[in-house]
Amino acid sequence: MLNPLAIVLAAIVNPPAIVLAAVATLLMVLVTSVRGTGWEPTTDISDEVLEHRASAVPETEFPEPGNRAIGGGGGGGGAIPAGGDGEEGELEEGGTGSSGPGDIPEDEVEYFEVEFVKQGETVELSNDQPILEQGEDEGWDLPYACRQGQCVSCAGRIADGPSEDFVEHDNQQMLEEAEIDDGYTLTCVAYPRDSFSIETGEAP
Ligand code: FES
Repeated sequence: MLNPLAIVLAAIVNPPAIVLAAVATLLMVLVTSVRGTGWEPTTDISDEVLEHRASAVPETEFPEPGNRAIGGGGGGGGAIPAGGDGEEGELEEGGTGSSGPGDIPEDEVEYFEVEFVKQGETVELSNDQPILEQGEDEGWDLPYACRQGQCVSCAGRIADGPSEDFVEHDNQQMLEEAEIDDGYTLTCVAYPRDSFSIETGEAP
């Protein structure tokens, strides 16, 4: 095999040899490209790594986002399996097993007069839907966030006494007994059980 350095030196010492040197270099390049460099790409192990990682990460039991009910009692039920009891969650997702304060047969639905103080209006609310939902049906922009009784964004205050004398909460998780006694309610999970006046947007 010709040494490229020797070829270059020969070309410098003997200028007419430049042409020969160029030909020899071209031949070397040609031979190298035909034989290859011997380099081979490493095996693609990305699938193997992914499989290993998947087997190493333990499976979780978090419910799929699509399983979250919005507004109804099912949402609160969906949170229960996180505590370790999967059976209740499955029952509620089935639909037929749930029974919340809003599950009232159509012919047993009652209506109550409810005064919305800040809106300056009194409307009839049914006992099978939360106050928040029915207020929104009136076109009012009432405050809310989770719609599952897990924050206080939708809180309101019933001035006439303990809120649970007038509404039934479906799994509210934020108000303490004293706050309920003081008239506070979470309108997203509160179902009317009597007539009352409420100030919306009032949190304890
Ligand atoms: S919106 Fe969160 S508790 Fe009602």
